[in-house]
Amino acid sequence: MRMRKKNNLQSRMDACSEYWIQNPETYKGRWRELKPDCSQLRVEVGCGKGKFTVETAAAEPDMLLIAVEIVKDAMVVGMEKAKAMGLKNVFFISMDVAEIENFFEESELDLLYINFCDPWPRSKNAKRRLTYHTFLDKYRRVLKLGGQIHFKTDNAKLFEFSLEEFARCDLEMRNVTRNLHENGPVGIMTGYEEKFYNLGTPINRCECIVRSKPANTMDVIIFAGQSNMQGETERLSEAETVKDAYEYKWLTNKIVPLRNPVGENIKFDGSEGWALESGDQIPAWLKDHVFGASCYGNTNLVPSFCRAYIDQRETSVLAVHTAKGSSVIDQWAPGAEIYSTLVQKANAAIKKAKREHTIGHIYVVWLQGESDAISGTSKDTYKQKLAQLAQSCMKDFGAERFAVIRVGRFTNDERDLQIMQAQEELCDENPDFIMLTKIAEELNKEPEYMNPYVAGHYSAKGIEILGNAAGGALGKYAE
Ligand SMILES: C[S@@+](CC[C@H](N)C(=O)[O-])C[C@H]1O[C@@H](n2cnc3c(N)ncnc32)[C@H](O)[C@@H]1O
Repeated sequence: MRMRKKNNLQSRMDACSEYWIQNPETYKGRWRELKPDCSQLRVEVGCGKGKFTVETAAAEPDMLLIAVEIVKDAMVVGMEKAKAMGLKNVFFISMDVAEIENFFEESELDLLYINFCDPWPRSKNAKRRLTYHTFLDKYRRVLKLGGQIHFKTDNAKLFEFSLEEFARCDLEMRNVTRNLHENGPVGIMTGYEEKFYNLGTPINRCECIVRSKPANTMDVIIFAGQSNMQGETERLSEAETVKDAYEYKWLTNKIVPLRNPVGENIKFDGSEGWALESGDQIPAWLKDHVFGASCYGNTNLVPSFCRAYIDQRETSVLAVHTAKGSSVIDQWAPGAEIYSTLVQKANAAIKKAKREHTIGHIYVVWLQGESDAISGTSKDTYKQKLAQLAQSCMKDFGAERFAVIRVGRFTNDERDLQIMQAQEELCDENPDFIMLTKIAEELNKEPEYMNPYVAGHYSAKGIEILGNAAGGALGKYAE
């Protein structure tokens, strides 16, 4: 039921401000300072009007309880109760529990209560349930090993779903009951619980013990193709780092935060040719095999792609950039030099990532075909060669899927269509492939999305739109 808006909310909140932690991030790692002698630090998520909160705090004055509630109109009622009872071991924070890792340090908590969370009954909303595995992984990080989650709900379907999620997250379950009050009331009831109990609805309860910390999963995405993938845009967008996204730099064998410009640290310095960022000339053997957009120094689709991917999939990502301007499909044939560089770089990145992470998905994202359109590659030839490339990527570095950003217009005649159709048919017919987006062709129609200086290439604005659409699509698929 939706809460009615409370009058004078702010003044009521202010009146019990000693219970209201307004800057919870500053307490990260030091919550126990609020009660230095506390036996345990606990959190209750979605405390509602705080009946369970205050009664539990009163019953166990040695422990410190932090109640989290996203709706201030409900939370204020709990704070008022705490004040009326003169409690010294309970505080409230108004936040979305999805942010819990921003406010609590790794292993800081002893126990976390989830009482009667919203069931989100439609399966498309499963990931909003506070017992969905992505939430459980957050709780597992802020709880210590051996710490506990106590969960109660009236909703039988949510309960069964949650038990599966607990098992999936290596949470050891104890005292599982599907009718807690069968033989009379047990423990402190929440506000919702009391209502359901009076209606005769059985209450489900379970305790979970944290037995392990979640693996630090990292998906690896290999970005391959030609100049539009390489980043031949007209300007550099703000070079902000993308949260939870990293890039593998092959020349230095380093994993660094992902930001524009993307690629190996080499530059095209006009008449002098390619140079390393250090100013040294690039060694001859490397010239034709080093990929990336840093040579242009401009905006690339990888950051916007990864941002949108992470928004969907909630994992960290390692981007591996292996695009090569003007390349045709023949140059990506297994055995050809560009392909062998792709394999070496992908494997080096995966090996490096494995040192600290569990590898999740490995995908190749492909934006290529413009040069094949120019050279008149037929649909069937392109299809056959791209299928062979995808198969080799699976075999040579464990790619799970070959994800295609359908190429846009380059020749503006039938030759473009041959490549577009080849890519579409592969994605329709061949399970190795996924079509991420077809909007590249739409962007071609708007001058603001095209690089004003280099025909057939997208502008920084255009490439970010393309990256966002494609990354969101792959993130959704990967979930
Ligand atoms: C069904 S009520 C249960 C309230 C209380 N635990 C009880 O049992 O009486 C669920 C509560 O969780 C809060 N809530 C839902 N999603 C939340 C989130 N992401 N972060 C914090 N609180 C949330 C809601 O605002 C609501 O007050």
